[in-house]
Amino acid sequence: MAYKDKLLHHYYELNYRQRLRYYLIDRFRFSKVDRFFFEGCKGNPGQMFLAERRGLYETILKHTPRHCLEIGTYTGGGSTFFLASAFASLKRGKVITTEVDAGIHKGCKQFYQSRLQRLLPHVEFVLGSNLKLFSPYLADGLDCFFLDGAEDASQTVEQYKFFEPYCSTGTVMMAHDWNTDKMKALRDFLPEAAKVNWREERHLEPPDSVGFVVMVAE
Ligand SMILES: C[S@@+](CC[C@H](N)C(=O)[O-])C[C@H]1O[C@@H](n2cnc3c(N)ncnc32)[C@H](O)[C@@H]1O
Repeated sequence: MAYKDKLLHHYYELNYRQRLRYYLIDRFRFSKVDRFFFEGCKGNPGQMFLAERRGLYETILKHTPRHCLEIGTYTGGGSTFFLASAFASLKRGKVITTEVDAGIHKGCKQFYQSRLQRLLPHVEFVLGSNLKLFSPYLADGLDCFFLDGAEDASQTVEQYKFFEPYCSTGTVMMAHDWNTDKMKALRDFLPEAAKVNWREERHLEPPDSVGFVVMVAE
């Protein structure tokens, strides 16, 4: 992959020489906002491309959900960091994020406790894959959820089906890897069998993204 393409992804994809070049030259071509999304969480790489991170953040600011229920924390430096940062900007609300890998979950929690204390009021880390772990946040309906779990198409559909009964007009669904096999079954399921009518609000495509969608329930 060319260096120029990597500037659409995130800082942690750059090798040592590319990081040097970024700091000496390209950083000055980035807006302050794009630097935030490109450079991400210092000391915690995470995933997601610049435009996807921006999409998550701007969606929270636009829709101001009470919560965003996320599947797939990973190290917490990607989507979780930008969702929590958006809630911190709003000064209210929280991302509740599940991670099935106990080691990754523990490391992530420790990182936030030591390095990102300012975000702790806006994030809750939950260990496990049982969707019922989200139940405490579903009693009054669902404002927002983000699907970014395993590379498993049928599991993604099951996750969607779990959330669907809690959706109402205005509920926001975001999904990453929209163009990959992980989302194929859900891409097919929504137009054919979903009980919610989803309006596509944002759709990112390569090279800016590996597929990222924001949909709002009508
Ligand atoms: C693609 S990564 C998520 C990347 C993350 N959103 C980011 O921006 O850095 C997927 C993560 O989901 C976790 N995972 C897989 N299946 C899961 C499940 N059923 N529930 C919760 N986490 C899951 C994996 O261990 C992995 O850390």
